[in-house]
Formats: sequence, C-alpha cells, structure tokens
Amino acid sequence: MFNRRNFLKKSAIFTSLAGLAPWPTLAAGRKVTATGKTTIISTWNHGLQANVAAWRVLQNGGSATDAVEAGVRVPESDPENTSVGLGGMPDRDGHVTLDACIMDPSGNCGGVAGLEHIEHPISVARKVMDDTPHVLLVGDGALQFALANGFEKKDLLTAKTYKAWQEWFKKAEYKPVINIENHDTIGLLAQDKDGNIAGACTTSGLAFKMYGRVGDSPIIGAGLYVDNDIGGATATGMGEAIVKVAGSHLVVELMRQGYAPEEACKAAVERIVKKEPGYKNLQAGFLALRKDGKTGGYALQKGFNYALMTGPDNNRMVDARALL
Ligand code: GLY
Repeated sequence: MFNRRNFLKKSAIFTSLAGLAPWPTLAAGRKVTATGKTTIISTWNHGLQANVAAWRVLQNGGSATDAVEAGVRVPESDPENTSVGLGGMPDRDGHVTLDACIMDPSGNCGGVAGLEHIEHPISVARKVMDDTPHVLLVGDGALQFALANGFEKKDLLTAKTYKAWQEWFKKAEYKPVINIENHDTIGLLAQDKDGNIAGACTTSGLAFKMYGRVGDSPIIGAGLYVDNDIGGATATGMGEAIVKVAGSHLVVELMRQGYAPEEACKAAVERIVKKEPGYKNLQAGFLALRKDGKTGGYALQKGFNYALMTGPDNNRMVDARALL
C-alpha cells in the first residue's frame, strides 16, 4: 500500500544510490500537468526584451516555437550586446562565429555552429529543423544553407568589437571572463497556454576562442533540451563544462525523476563541480521550466540572473542562487 513515509524512505535510498541529493518534490513518474498559463524564462538581463517579443507572439496566437525564435532574435540584432549575434565578440582570428539551436514541443530540433555573417543564427537553426532531415549544420555548410534560403550576408564585427579584439591582441591571453557585462548566451524557454514548451539558445561563444571552437549552445542536450512531457532547460556559461555533463538534458531528466526546477539546476551545477577540476574559475548556470509552469535557475558562481515573464505586466529579473 502507498505510504508517504515508505515512499520518502525509498526515494532517499534511490537518490543516494544514484549519487543525487535527496530533494525530489514529486514522485518519479508522477505526471506534472500544464496549468493553462503562459510562462517565458530567459538568461541574463537581455532576456527582458526577448521575453516581451516572445510574449507578443504567444498573445497573437503564435506557437511556443515561434515565440522562442522571435524572443532570441532581439539580442541577436543588438549591436551593443557583445555575446550574441550582430556585434558578438570575434574569435582570436577576428571571425565572429555564431552558435544556436532550437527545439520544439514535438522533440524536433535544429542547430548551427560556427556560422559567420548571418545576424540571426536562430532562424537558420529553425530552418535546419523545419526543412532538412538533419539537426546540425556547421561552418561553411551552414552559411551556404543560410544564403540558399535567402538570409542576408553581413559583417557582424562592429567598431566596438574590432577595438576589443585589437586590445586583446596586445597580450593575446586567453582568459574567459565570468559573468561578462551581465550577458552571455541567451537561452529562452516558453510555454504557451496549451502547455506546450519550446526552447531556443544562441551565442557568439567565448570571446577570442580558437577558430572552430564550438560550445554548448548549438548542442541539443547541452545548451538546450525540451521534453514536452516534462519541461525544458537551457544553459549559459562555459560551454565545455556544460557539454561534458550534457547539462540541459540532465536538468530535464532530474525533473523527470521528481526534482523541482531549481533543485534540478542545482544538481546539474554540482555535477559540473564533481567532474571539472577547474570549476572555481568558470561560470555555468541553468534555467528550467517544468510542465506545470514552475521555473527555476541556479549557477555555479554568484552574479547570474534571469528574466521571468508570467503576465503582460510581470516581466522581472530574478537573481539565481549560486553554489559558490
Ligand atoms: N555558453 C556559451 C559558450 O560556451 O559558447
């Protein structure tokens, strides 16, 4: 017979066996149902404007997938934002190479990596998802695909980022900056009123990275993951550390096991600490949106915040808790 005390005891045994903190707030396998409310969550302070754009799409009857694409296109077009799209920091050879991916409620996904000259890598990723049998196109192949589909070729290096690159050259020292100017990747998750969840993630990656370096952001399961039965997760910070633990997939799977969104994000951060000896010198943060509309975020280092929108007059920044 079901008995709460026995259940909690069994959960504790299960989680300690699995090496996980004993936090589950829902019995594993229990169905979490949607509430009919719209929720949008996205990384960093550039998320506020992105959320508004995504919200508009949902209000006008667009899908969650349309909403996440429209949302992240906002920082992609902002030349002052040096970590996403136009005006993103170049690699050490002066190339602005962009990474992005998108995932819809049916589990379809698409991505581009190392894409140059295109302001909206997220829309190219959407085309990869919608119009090809593939999930990821890279480099010249991704560019060729974008141009064949009518995307405009542009110079994405701005006067500001050219200057920063020239400055960097003086020492040519590779040192990723934690919480750079309160932005990094934008990862955005949206749930429409029917409960469907989609996600998008886009970045110019680490400033002055090696040419050809790809981080977590275009990798399904690392920078982004959605399972419409459970929820979605997205990541920001040092891509290499996030890829190594398949971070966003891990967060969703922890929610499947019963973890609350923030708890799942925290456990993924703890997994990075366990696996990454250099964890003190990097930032990694996760956001999660569960099927019942509950949200949460958690980071390794202090300073990570996210934008949460649950109504036309309720779009606000939330400071994520941090492990260190
Ligand atoms: N999270 C962005 C990157 O590492 O490229």
